[in-house]
Amino acid sequence: MVNDLIIHNAGQLVTCASPGGPRRGAAMQDVGIIADGAVAIKNGVFTAVGTSAEILGKYKAAELIDAEGRAVVPGFVDPHTHIVYAGDRLNEFELKIKGAEYLDILAAGGGIISTVRNTRAASEEELIAAALGRLDKMLACGTTVCEIKTGYGLDTETELKMLRVIEALDKRHSIKIVPTFLAAHAVPPEFKDDPDGYVELICGEMLPRAWEWYSGSHFATEGTPFFADIFCERNAFDIGHAVRMFDAAASLGFRLKAHVDQFTNLGGSRLGVESNAISIDHLDAISDEEIALLAASGTVGVVIPTENFNGGKTQFAPARKMIDAGCAVALTTDYNPGSAPCPSQPMAMAIACRYQKLLPAEALNAATINAAHAIGLGEKHGSIMAGKRADLNILDSHDWRMLMYEFGGKLIAETLAEGRPAKRNKG
Ligand code: NIG
Ligand code: FE
Repeated sequence: MVNDLIIHNAGQLVTCASPGGPRRGAAMQDVGIIADGAVAIKNGVFTAVGTSAEILGKYKAAELIDAEGRAVVPGFVDPHTHIVYAGDRLNEFELKIKGAEYLDILAAGGGIISTVRNTRAASEEELIAAALGRLDKMLACGTTVCEIKTGYGLDTETELKMLRVIEALDKRHSIKIVPTFLAAHAVPPEFKDDPDGYVELICGEMLPRAWEWYSGSHFATEGTPFFADIFCERNAFDIGHAVRMFDAAASLGFRLKAHVDQFTNLGGSRLGVESNAISIDHLDAISDEEIALLAASGTVGVVIPTENFNGGKTQFAPARKMIDAGCAVALTTDYNPGSAPCPSQPMAMAIACRYQKLLPAEALNAATINAAHAIGLGEKHGSIMAGKRADLNILDSHDWRMLMYEFGGKLIAETLAEGRPAKRNKG
């Protein structure tokens, strides 16, 4: 068999290979390095991974790339983003610098609700153009797979519009995208005094319409999962709402996710684990008892240090404690216009190392293989292994740990998605 491409002479080929599921506990300190490594690629998939001597001795390829001794790592997986929206929140940024609180801005009809107003007014084409620009920024930081949530529509038509935009983005961009339905992101102004009524609308109309859309989308055809998510928080949704939404979503076929413990512990982590959610995200206020439940479960804990950094906070989700307890921990940017306007997984890793005391290896596993498991793509993405989609970053360094050690600059020389130089128009 002649391969399309062989990349050889990678001083460190950092595979993050983890055949049995996400890495957890002490196994997160191992990133599976092959010294002087090489990969063979055909039809966008890794066909072989080994040392340069092994791969060049056994396989042929139409094209050879010499990595010149630099480090090669998997493409990053960003498991939690909100990048389909119109407008910005620059005014809110200044208000927060002057002392305003995120949840107070939301309660006053700003925050998420101000982005909802702009997103409802925007056309599908405008939303696609804006989100393509954000995907380009993520790609420039080495991300090759991401999840995108709805949640700036909060009415049936706009939420469906966001889903169509997400599908259009996946068809056009090199970044592989997974959709999440987040109608339960905030209580819309029309239901300000009747959150229960809004949850009824979500369960009775929005989730079934979203599932109908999914069934006819290319995501269903190719076997990409579809998630339902909820923001459990003061001034948003309570545990009773989450139970109702989870029941309705799971019975349609959705896999579950939840924003929990960002500011307040309402019991969302326990509910998420007991509901077999694929991930629970934020976790700043998670209790020790819930950490033990999470560690004993198949749910991935997604932590978001960019959100704390953006809020100027000194407290972070207890990711160190979670890893030591045996949880599968993943990292995300949460790229969104309010709580985390950040496209960069290397930035999330750099903060996690300093403030959450993750070792570089733990941060890299959290932003690759564990992140892929947090969005149901661990079988095909998130590590450099034969049979997986050929996504990788050739770094501008001989040591992969430079990714976390340096910050704020450009660390990636070249990104491949599906075995080709990654770019906006993948065709
Ligand atoms: O994950 N907390 C709720 N949702 C997002 C923020 C969205 C926004 O502020 O627009 C988050 O932090
Ligand atoms: Fe979020």
